[in-house]
Amino acid sequence: MTGRLAGRVAVVTGAAGGIGRAIATGLAAEGARVVVADVADGTGTVAVIEQAGGEAFCLSCDVAHDGQVQAMVATAVETYGGIDVLVNNAGISGGSSLAHELEVEVWARVLAVNLTGPFLCARAAMPYLLASGPHPDRSRGRVVNVASTYGVIGAPLAPAYCASKGGVVNLTRQLAVDYGPLGVRVNAICPGYIDTDMGGYRAGLGPAAAAVANARRESAAALQPLGRQAQADEVARVAVFLAGDDSSFMTGSIVTVDGGCTTTFNHG
Ligand SMILES: NC(=O)c1ccc[n+]([C@@H]2O[C@H](COP(=O)([O-])OP(=O)(O)OC[C@H]3O[C@@H](n4cnc5c(N)ncnc54)[C@H](O)[C@@H]3O)[C@@H](O)[C@H]2O)c1
Repeated sequence: MTGRLAGRVAVVTGAAGGIGRAIATGLAAEGARVVVADVADGTGTVAVIEQAGGEAFCLSCDVAHDGQVQAMVATAVETYGGIDVLVNNAGISGGSSLAHELEVEVWARVLAVNLTGPFLCARAAMPYLLASGPHPDRSRGRVVNVASTYGVIGAPLAPAYCASKGGVVNLTRQLAVDYGPLGVRVNAICPGYIDTDMGGYRAGLGPAAAAVANARRESAAALQPLGRQAQADEVARVAVFLAGDDSSFMTGSIVTVDGGCTTTFNHG
Protein backbone atom coordinates (compact mmCIF):
# COMPACT_ATOMS: atom_id res chain seq x y z
CA MET A 1 0.00 0.00 0.00
CA THR A 2 1.05 3.57 -0.53
CA GLY A 3 0.17 6.37 1.86
CA ARG A 4 1.64 8.58 4.52
CA LEU A 5 2.14 5.60 6.85
CA ALA A 6 3.31 3.04 4.33
CA GLY A 7 5.76 0.58 5.84
CA ARG A 8 4.75 1.35 9.43
CA VAL A 9 3.15 -0.86 12.01
CA ALA A 10 0.42 0.44 14.32
CA VAL A 11 -1.09 -1.17 17.40
CA VAL A 12 -4.55 0.18 18.23
CA THR A 13 -6.17 -0.92 21.48
CA GLY A 14 -9.94 -1.09 21.78
CA ALA A 15 -10.19 -1.23 18.00
CA ALA A 16 -13.03 -3.76 17.68
CA GLY A 17 -15.55 -0.91 17.34
CA GLY A 18 -16.27 2.76 17.89
CA ILE A 19 -13.46 5.31 17.74
CA GLY A 20 -10.77 2.59 17.81
CA ARG A 21 -12.14 0.95 14.67
CA ALA A 22 -12.21 4.32 12.91
CA ILE A 23 -8.60 4.97 13.93
CA ALA A 24 -7.48 1.50 12.84
CA THR A 25 -9.13 1.86 9.43
CA GLY A 26 -7.78 5.40 9.06
CA LEU A 27 -4.22 4.28 9.79
CA ALA A 28 -4.58 1.32 7.41
CA ALA A 29 -5.91 3.60 4.67
CA GLU A 30 -2.60 5.49 4.96
CA GLY A 31 -0.67 2.25 4.44
CA ALA A 32 0.05 1.13 8.01
CA ARG A 33 -0.23 -2.53 8.94
CA VAL A 34 -2.51 -2.59 11.95
CA VAL A 35 -2.78 -4.77 15.04
CA VAL A 36 -6.34 -4.66 16.37
CA ALA A 37 -6.07 -5.39 20.11
CA ASP A 38 -9.30 -5.68 22.07
CA VAL A 39 -11.11 -7.79 24.65
CA ALA A 40 -13.93 -7.97 22.11
CA ASP A 41 -13.80 -9.72 18.73
CA GLY A 42 -11.85 -7.55 16.29
CA THR A 43 -12.51 -9.56 13.13
CA GLY A 44 -15.08 -7.00 11.92
CA THR A 45 -12.43 -4.28 11.95
CA VAL A 46 -9.92 -6.53 10.18
CA ALA A 47 -12.56 -7.30 7.51
CA VAL A 48 -13.21 -3.59 6.90
CA ILE A 49 -9.46 -2.94 6.55
CA GLU A 50 -8.90 -5.91 4.23
CA GLN A 51 -11.89 -5.02 2.05
CA ALA A 52 -10.25 -1.63 1.52
CA GLY A 53 -6.97 -3.34 0.50
CA GLY A 54 -5.19 -2.91 3.81
CA GLU A 55 -3.46 -5.32 6.13
CA ALA A 56 -4.39 -6.10 9.74
CA PHE A 57 -4.87 -8.86 12.24
CA CYS A 58 -6.66 -8.95 15.56
CA LEU A 59 -5.91 -10.48 18.88
CA SER A 60 -7.56 -10.63 22.25
CA CYS A 61 -5.91 -8.44 24.85
CA ASP A 62 -7.07 -6.91 28.12
CA VAL A 63 -4.96 -3.76 28.41
CA ALA A 64 -5.25 -3.88 32.20
CA HIS A 65 -3.42 -7.22 32.30
CA ASP A 66 0.35 -6.89 31.97
CA GLY A 67 0.90 -10.48 30.80
CA GLN A 68 -1.67 -10.09 28.02
CA VAL A 69 -0.19 -6.74 26.98
CA GLN A 70 3.31 -8.22 26.78
CA ALA A 71 2.03 -11.18 24.77
CA MET A 72 0.14 -8.84 22.42
CA VAL A 73 3.25 -6.73 21.80
CA ALA A 74 5.38 -9.86 21.26
CA THR A 75 2.89 -11.18 18.68
CA ALA A 76 2.73 -7.81 16.93
CA VAL A 77 6.53 -7.71 16.65
CA GLU A 78 6.77 -11.36 15.58
CA THR A 79 4.14 -10.82 12.88
CA TYR A 80 5.07 -7.42 11.49
CA GLY A 81 8.68 -6.99 12.64
CA GLY A 82 8.28 -3.98 14.95
CA ILE A 83 5.93 -1.27 16.21
CA ASP A 84 6.03 2.34 15.03
CA VAL A 85 2.72 3.66 16.37
CA LEU A 86 0.81 2.84 19.54
CA VAL A 87 -2.73 4.16 19.91
CA ASN A 88 -4.05 3.75 23.44
CA ASN A 89 -7.75 3.93 22.77
CA ALA A 90 -9.36 1.18 24.88
CA GLY A 91 -11.56 2.64 27.59
CA ILE A 92 -14.61 2.09 29.75
CA SER A 93 -16.98 4.55 31.39
CA GLY A 94 -17.63 2.93 34.76
CA GLY A 95 -21.24 4.09 34.82
CA SER A 96 -22.79 7.04 36.62
CA SER A 97 -22.35 7.56 40.33
CA LEU A 98 -21.51 10.02 43.07
CA ALA A 99 -18.05 9.31 44.52
CA HIS A 100 -19.37 8.20 47.91
CA GLU A 101 -21.69 5.71 46.24
CA LEU A 102 -19.12 4.30 43.83
CA GLU A 103 -18.01 0.73 44.42
CA VAL A 104 -14.27 0.56 45.06
CA GLU A 105 -14.07 -2.34 42.57
CA VAL A 106 -15.57 -0.16 39.83
CA TRP A 107 -13.11 2.64 40.63
CA ALA A 108 -10.22 0.16 40.47
CA ARG A 109 -11.33 -1.38 37.16
CA VAL A 110 -11.83 2.01 35.46
CA LEU A 111 -8.37 3.15 36.59
CA ALA A 112 -6.89 -0.21 35.56
CA VAL A 113 -8.30 -0.10 32.01
CA ASN A 114 -8.19 3.64 31.30
CA LEU A 115 -4.94 4.66 32.99
CA THR A 116 -2.85 1.60 33.86
CA GLY A 117 -3.70 0.15 30.42
CA PRO A 118 -2.03 2.97 28.46
CA PHE A 119 0.96 2.80 30.82
CA LEU A 120 1.34 -0.98 30.37
CA CYS A 121 1.01 -0.72 26.59
CA ALA A 122 3.49 2.17 26.37
CA ARG A 123 5.87 0.30 28.65
CA ALA A 124 5.74 -2.87 26.57
CA ALA A 125 5.85 -1.15 23.17
CA MET A 126 8.48 1.48 24.02
CA PRO A 127 11.58 -0.59 23.13
CA TYR A 128 10.14 -1.01 19.61
CA LEU A 129 8.95 2.60 19.33
CA LEU A 130 12.48 3.70 20.29
CA ALA A 131 13.89 1.47 17.56
CA SER A 132 11.54 2.93 14.93
CA GLY A 133 13.60 5.00 12.53
CA PRO A 134 17.34 5.37 12.24
CA HIS A 135 17.94 8.50 14.33
CA PRO A 136 15.94 10.54 16.87
CA ASP A 137 15.42 13.37 14.38
CA ARG A 138 13.80 10.99 11.96
CA SER A 139 12.26 8.62 14.48
CA ARG A 140 8.84 7.32 13.61
CA GLY A 141 7.93 6.19 17.14
CA ARG A 142 4.56 7.69 18.12
CA VAL A 143 2.10 7.24 20.95
CA VAL A 144 -1.41 8.62 20.61
CA ASN A 145 -3.49 8.44 23.78
CA VAL A 146 -7.25 8.76 23.53
CA ALA A 147 -8.16 10.65 26.71
CA SER A 148 -11.38 12.70 26.98
CA THR A 149 -12.74 16.16 27.62
CA TYR A 150 -13.53 14.58 31.01
CA GLY A 151 -9.77 14.50 31.55
CA VAL A 152 -9.50 18.30 31.42
CA ILE A 153 -12.71 19.36 33.15
CA GLY A 154 -14.82 17.93 35.95
CA ALA A 155 -18.06 16.31 34.84
CA PRO A 156 -21.01 15.09 36.88
CA LEU A 157 -21.27 11.54 38.20
CA ALA A 158 -18.02 10.30 36.67
CA PRO A 159 -15.35 10.35 39.41
CA ALA A 160 -13.35 7.34 38.24
CA TYR A 161 -13.62 8.18 34.54
CA CYS A 162 -12.58 11.83 35.10
CA ALA A 163 -9.68 10.79 37.33
CA SER A 164 -8.49 8.15 34.87
CA LYS A 165 -8.63 10.47 31.86
CA GLY A 166 -6.96 13.29 33.80
CA GLY A 167 -4.23 10.78 34.55
CA VAL A 168 -3.88 9.93 30.86
CA VAL A 169 -3.54 13.62 30.03
CA ASN A 170 -0.62 14.11 32.39
CA LEU A 171 0.91 10.71 31.62
CA THR A 172 1.01 11.98 28.02
CA ARG A 173 2.98 15.05 29.06
CA GLN A 174 5.30 13.01 31.28
CA LEU A 175 6.12 10.48 28.57
CA ALA A 176 6.64 13.31 26.09
CA VAL A 177 9.29 14.81 28.39
CA ASP A 178 11.26 11.59 28.79
CA TYR A 179 10.95 10.19 25.28
CA GLY A 180 11.03 13.35 23.14
CA PRO A 181 14.84 13.53 23.32
CA LEU A 182 14.91 9.87 22.32
CA GLY A 183 12.75 10.47 19.26
CA VAL A 184 9.33 9.18 20.35
CA ARG A 185 6.49 11.70 20.23
CA VAL A 186 3.56 11.29 22.62
CA ASN A 187 0.30 13.21 22.22
CA ALA A 188 -3.28 12.90 23.43
CA ILE A 189 -6.69 13.49 21.92
CA CYS A 190 -9.59 14.58 24.09
CA PRO A 191 -12.81 13.72 22.28
CA GLY A 192 -16.06 15.37 23.30
CA TYR A 193 -19.46 13.99 22.34
CA ILE A 194 -18.77 11.27 19.79
CA ASP A 195 -21.63 9.23 18.40
CA THR A 196 -20.51 5.75 19.48
CA ASP A 197 -22.26 3.37 21.81
CA MET A 198 -19.52 3.51 24.41
CA GLY A 199 -19.35 0.23 26.29
CA GLY A 200 -22.49 -1.03 24.57
CA TYR A 201 -24.47 1.15 26.99
CA ARG A 202 -27.31 1.99 24.62
CA ALA A 203 -27.35 -1.51 23.12
CA GLY A 204 -27.99 -2.81 26.64
CA LEU A 205 -31.11 -0.67 27.06
CA GLY A 206 -34.55 -1.39 25.64
CA PRO A 207 -35.50 0.64 22.54
CA ALA A 208 -37.48 3.25 24.52
CA ALA A 209 -34.73 3.81 27.10
CA ALA A 210 -32.10 3.89 24.34
CA ALA A 211 -34.10 6.59 22.54
CA VAL A 212 -34.23 8.64 25.76
CA ALA A 213 -30.46 8.18 26.28
CA ASN A 214 -29.82 9.22 22.66
CA ALA A 215 -32.04 12.28 22.98
CA ARG A 216 -30.30 13.32 26.21
CA ARG A 217 -26.91 13.04 24.54
CA GLU A 218 -28.08 14.92 21.43
CA SER A 219 -29.45 17.79 23.50
CA ALA A 220 -26.25 18.01 25.57
CA ALA A 221 -24.20 18.06 22.36
CA ALA A 222 -26.49 20.76 20.95
CA LEU A 223 -25.32 23.16 23.69
CA GLN A 224 -21.71 23.16 22.51
CA PRO A 225 -20.39 25.65 19.93
CA LEU A 226 -20.60 23.22 16.99
CA GLY A 227 -23.99 22.01 18.22
CA ARG A 228 -23.76 18.31 17.42
CA GLN A 229 -22.07 15.03 18.20
CA ALA A 230 -19.13 13.99 16.00
CA GLN A 231 -18.68 10.81 14.04
CA ALA A 232 -15.80 8.54 15.05
CA ASP A 233 -13.86 9.27 11.85
CA GLU A 234 -13.63 12.96 12.85
CA VAL A 235 -11.52 11.81 15.81
CA ALA A 236 -9.68 9.24 13.71
CA ARG A 237 -8.42 11.86 11.27
CA VAL A 238 -6.73 13.69 14.15
CA ALA A 239 -5.22 10.44 15.41
CA VAL A 240 -3.81 9.70 11.94
CA PHE A 241 -2.32 13.21 11.86
CA LEU A 242 -0.66 12.69 15.26
CA ALA A 243 0.61 9.26 14.19
CA GLY A 244 2.11 10.63 10.99
CA ASP A 245 4.88 13.02 9.98
CA ASP A 246 2.65 16.08 9.45
CA SER A 247 2.61 16.60 13.24
CA SER A 248 6.43 16.57 13.36
CA PHE A 249 6.81 19.36 15.97
CA MET A 250 4.07 18.14 18.30
CA THR A 251 4.72 16.25 21.49
CA GLY A 252 3.00 16.47 24.85
CA SER A 253 0.06 18.14 23.12
CA ILE A 254 -3.43 17.64 24.48
CA VAL A 255 -5.68 18.08 21.48
CA THR A 256 -9.38 18.59 22.12
CA VAL A 257 -11.69 17.27 19.40
CA ASP A 258 -14.86 18.37 21.10
CA GLY A 259 -16.86 20.79 18.98
CA GLY A 260 -15.71 23.52 21.33
CA CYS A 261 -17.44 22.14 24.41
CA THR A 262 -14.50 22.80 26.75
CA THR A 263 -13.99 26.36 25.48
CA THR A 264 -17.00 27.95 27.16
CA PHE A 265 -19.86 27.53 29.61
CA ASN A 266 -23.06 25.88 28.52
CA HIS A 267 -25.48 28.75 28.12
CA GLY A 268 -28.51 26.58 27.42
N1 LIG B 1 -17.68 8.14 22.65
C1 LIG B 1 -17.37 9.27 23.27
O1 LIG B 1 -18.18 10.20 23.32
C2 LIG B 1 -16.00 9.44 23.90
C3 LIG B 1 -15.70 10.70 24.41
C4 LIG B 1 -14.45 10.91 24.99
C5 LIG B 1 -13.53 9.88 25.06
N2 LIG B 1 -13.86 8.67 24.56
C6 LIG B 1 -12.83 7.62 24.66
O2 LIG B 1 -12.62 7.06 23.39
C7 LIG B 1 -12.19 5.71 23.54
C8 LIG B 1 -13.05 4.82 22.67
O3 LIG B 1 -14.38 4.92 23.11
P1 LIG B 1 -15.64 4.54 22.18
O4 LIG B 1 -16.61 5.65 22.33
O5 LIG B 1 -15.20 4.15 20.84
O6 LIG B 1 -16.22 3.33 23.02
P2 LIG B 1 -16.50 1.79 22.59
O7 LIG B 1 -17.06 1.16 23.80
O8 LIG B 1 -17.27 1.79 21.32
O9 LIG B 1 -15.05 1.25 22.29
C9 LIG B 1 -14.15 0.92 23.32
C10 LIG B 1 -13.41 -0.34 22.90
O10 LIG B 1 -12.49 -0.66 23.95
C11 LIG B 1 -12.58 -2.06 24.18
N3 LIG B 1 -12.14 -2.35 25.55
C12 LIG B 1 -12.80 -2.10 26.70
N4 LIG B 1 -12.07 -2.53 27.74
C13 LIG B 1 -10.94 -3.06 27.23
C14 LIG B 1 -9.79 -3.66 27.81
N5 LIG B 1 -9.69 -3.84 29.13
N6 LIG B 1 -8.81 -4.08 27.00
C15 LIG B 1 -8.90 -3.94 25.65
N7 LIG B 1 -9.98 -3.38 25.05
C16 LIG B 1 -10.97 -2.94 25.83
C17 LIG B 1 -14.04 -2.41 23.97
O11 LIG B 1 -14.23 -3.79 23.74
C18 LIG B 1 -14.37 -1.55 22.75
O12 LIG B 1 -14.11 -2.21 21.53
C19 LIG B 1 -12.27 5.40 25.04
O13 LIG B 1 -11.00 5.51 25.63
C20 LIG B 1 -13.20 6.47 25.56
O14 LIG B 1 -12.98 6.73 26.92
C21 LIG B 1 -15.06 8.41 23.98
